[in-house]
Amino acid sequence: MNKLSWVLISAPLLFACSDLANKTQPPTEKMPADATHTSAMVSGTDYHSFSNPDEVRVTHLDLSLTADFNLHELIGSATLDFKRIKDDADTLIVDTRDLAIKQVTVNGEPVEYSLSEPDENLGSALSISLPKQASQVTIDYATSPNASGVQWLTPAQTQGKKHPFLFTQAQAIHARSFIPLQDSPQVRITYDAHIRTPKALRAVMSAANDPDTPMDGDYTFTMPQPIPSYLIALAIGHLDFKAMGKRTGVYAEPEILDAAAAEFEDTESMLEVTENTYGPYRWDRYDLLILPPSFPFGGMENPRLSFITPTVIAGDKSLVSLIAHELAHSWSGNTVTNATWRDLWLNEGFTTYLTYRIMEMVYGEHRFSMEAVLGYQSLQADLNTLPPKDQILAIDLRGRNPDDVFSDIPYEKGALFLRELEQKVGRANFDAFLMAYFDHFAFQSITTDTFVDYLNDTLLKQYPDKLSKARIHQWIFEPGLPEGAPVPVSDAFDKIDTARQAWLDGDISAAQINSAQWTTHEWLYFLNNMPKQLSEPQLNELDTVFHLTQSTNNEIAHSWLLIAVNNEYKPAYDRLYDYLVHIGRNKLVKPLYQALAQTPEGKAFAKKAFEEAKPGYHPLTIRVNEGFVED
Ligand code: BES
Ligand code: ZN
Repeated sequence: MNKLSWVLISAPLLFACSDLANKTQPPTEKMPADATHTSAMVSGTDYHSFSNPDEVRVTHLDLSLTADFNLHELIGSATLDFKRIKDDADTLIVDTRDLAIKQVTVNGEPVEYSLSEPDENLGSALSISLPKQASQVTIDYATSPNASGVQWLTPAQTQGKKHPFLFTQAQAIHARSFIPLQDSPQVRITYDAHIRTPKALRAVMSAANDPDTPMDGDYTFTMPQPIPSYLIALAIGHLDFKAMGKRTGVYAEPEILDAAAAEFEDTESMLEVTENTYGPYRWDRYDLLILPPSFPFGGMENPRLSFITPTVIAGDKSLVSLIAHELAHSWSGNTVTNATWRDLWLNEGFTTYLTYRIMEMVYGEHRFSMEAVLGYQSLQADLNTLPPKDQILAIDLRGRNPDDVFSDIPYEKGALFLRELEQKVGRANFDAFLMAYFDHFAFQSITTDTFVDYLNDTLLKQYPDKLSKARIHQWIFEPGLPEGAPVPVSDAFDKIDTARQAWLDGDISAAQINSAQWTTHEWLYFLNNMPKQLSEPQLNELDTVFHLTQSTNNEIAHSWLLIAVNNEYKPAYDRLYDYLVHIGRNKLVKPLYQALAQTPEGKAFAKKAFEEAKPGYHPLTIRVNEGFVED
């Protein structure tokens, strides 16, 4: 019934200048700002770490921390095992950010160290003098209450309202704000951890978790597979566990545990289809952790335990592609990892492609095709606003904080590139290629250039008449979309377009739209493709008939509130205020702040909401949005 085809059209390239392009960042020690535009990037060089893994490389971390919920500090030590890559290396350099370093010891003996002046984006390098035979150092330290990678929540900010909560978010460069380590994705380490918490709380980590462990305030963890530092994660809260399948379960506050387990009950099926298509799941269990609504992302693929926003618990599984996405990272990201942040698209583009495939396998082509069209529309919106240099998959992030450059480019453009490869060589052949790729590079961190070399040695050799080096180069190293790039088309939305147009033309009233059976995706498509300007009577009619201001689906509410802001539709502003104050997921709140900032009145409203929300926002959400409300 529903047909999806991919038509070949030439995509328009609109290189509008956004103020992002003009933002100059402070120079860093590694790369002066003025060099950003002239010198070539060196593949494999991590411009976002001060560490020296090419001389001395950390291999294992032993973490021992006490969570002090009064001081908002993690206090304890990190013991780092290292090996010398250069025999005569005498200094270990690790990354830190706002850490109070108390002492550094080798075999219990203090050793000399120095801490560099902090760089705004990168923090401070901690240089440790190594005695000749040493292979392990211990750093005693405490985190700052304002650590960029830690959020401490009051009981009021949780579901249960009785207990405090803590979570970390390390990607991209925030692990250094709670652990002194070589904070570069090309350094893979195993870890053990010992975490002490108040007695009523449970600690969980991106490691082996035991749901039967007694809640006694004392927890130990082991992560036996080598992972990059951005995948180290800790959460502490009043958490219960519920199994969903043999290898899958969910940790959440008891108040939302059942709802979460029901919403995400297909996780086990997702795991199975992904294994069948892309090879073994290499991480033992796959559990979810549901965070409070201030979690700044939709999800984070912390190994064995994805961190998930509660804003996707819609009651009808309509937003579960997020779970497919975080699960897919177990292959693309956690098993094969980007070596530097320039290579992020290897994580996110592959994962977005896998997400679409998983959704198609579990929920069918109709669901997949709708999500593919919505994803494509979102990509087009970014292509219309981002400067050309930020439309490149292998992006130059020198002198910038990766948090400031978040866009659909690595995600949807990356996925479209893989979709083109799939279409050219055939689905079965491309699946075989990806399975071999995950196996070949398992537990390695690789650069874009390593991927291109691999592609040249495999697919390009097998299908020389179907693929070309020039075309691949264009996809990865040039802005925009190459001419003839695949475009997802679905007839699933035809009836939505027809209904919207008939209503806009005044041929039918909103009440005459046959929307009773519409899914979330159909509502999103209906709303996202409204003209920017609607009249007051039109807005009133939509709201009266469809109760959009009251929508309990956070994505639909988001799309509607954006329309409300763009048209200054005041009846929605109480809900808007409440939404901004209670949700900290950046993707949902940032576009609203951005739209509000367009008018003085809107800005004043945004400022008020932001000030009230700020104590509950994550540092990242504060950082990314405070510019919109400044005078
Ligand atoms: N790994 C990302 C989140 C991330 C990326 C954090 C880069 C910091 C730097 C995660 O897997 C992700 O992509 N989350 C998305 C999910 C969405 C695309 C389904 C999100 O949070 O919106
Ligand atoms: Zn992702």
